[in-house]
Amino acid sequence: MNILLFGKTGQVGWELQRALAPLGNVIAVDVHSTDYCGDFSKPNEVAETVRRIRPDVVVNAAAHTAVDKAESERGFAQLLNATSVEAIAREVGAIGGWLVHYSTDYVFPGTGDTPWCETDLPAPLNVYGETKLAGEKAVQQHCPHHLIFRTSWVYAGKGNNFAKTMLNLAKDREELSIIDDQYGAPTGAELLADCTAHAIRTAMTKPEVAGLYHLVAAGTTTWYAFAQMVFDEARKAGLTLALNKVNPIATEAYPTPAKRPGNSRLNTEKFQREFGLVLPPWENGVKRMLAELFAATSI
Ligand SMILES: NC(=O)c1ccc[n+]([C@@H]2O[C@H](COP(=O)([O-])OP(=O)(O)OC[C@H]3O[C@@H](n4cnc5c(N)ncnc54)[C@H](OP(=O)(O)O)[C@@H]3O)[C@@H](O)[C@H]2O)c1
Repeated sequence: MNILLFGKTGQVGWELQRALAPLGNVIAVDVHSTDYCGDFSKPNEVAETVRRIRPDVVVNAAAHTAVDKAESERGFAQLLNATSVEAIAREVGAIGGWLVHYSTDYVFPGTGDTPWCETDLPAPLNVYGETKLAGEKAVQQHCPHHLIFRTSWVYAGKGNNFAKTMLNLAKDREELSIIDDQYGAPTGAELLADCTAHAIRTAMTKPEVAGLYHLVAAGTTTWYAFAQMVFDEARKAGLTLALNKVNPIATEAYPTPAKRPGNSRLNTEKFQREFGLVLPPWENGVKRMLAELFAATSI
């Protein structure tokens, strides 16, 4: 099987390079690639990459993910999250291939406290969510063999993440205020990549699984509770933190250019049922990432 991976250096893209490797020949590109164009600001050229490689499967992990920045650069976010996605979807559809694409909990308005199902009506609160929803629609319209995975609160060991930011702050500051009224599930890039590889294997023999899925770790937390867990694990690992007070605050107390949904819970029953997989509690992946982080920093 030939697999073309876009966005190979992002959080999810990096883990996909590992997880997709046993499935076949992986050609991985990013915005800087020279052999093939992986720059989503050039829709015609990324489409040309698909035409030249003619892969069995395209996995797209590239995106404009700067949620606040998207508010002031709608056109660029649309180009990356929708226009180029449409150009790729048309090409993959034309060659009868599979397209795997990621979307977000931010397509929902964040009301209520029930986990969102795939059948619930999206109504994004911000530009990022609007452009990601447009990308989903383009994939559905132009490439019948697709898997779209909506996920949330993605973190990875590589690069910056919320847990690392909290740890750095807690080393220097005695008091922190953290949002406690947004609910979701921190989901590891490793888990997403491994689930993607399993899903692709299934899709090769069971094409009827094509469709839209919610894919996040099990359970729910808030940024405040997530941070508390990070501080607890750090202390258990023997790290010295200056922090002695953590205040739970409401979203309104921390204004950002982009509105954030309060309820980002996603119902994953469809994914687990169709692919015969069990999504582990969010704490498992976070603790594992932290253990690796603490081990690396103690060298
Ligand atoms: N991160 C989250 O919390 C989250 C939540 C829900 C859904 N998702 C979705 O999950 C997927 C993977 O996200 P992620 O967390 O892995 O995001 P990420 O780490 O920000 O990765 C996105 C990748 O796209 C690249 N990119 C930026 N501009 C590009 C361009 N012009 N052409 C090609 N690539 C470009 C980025 O490169 P640079 O780093 O060099 O800019 C980065 O490598 C995305 O579809 C995202 O929308 C993410």
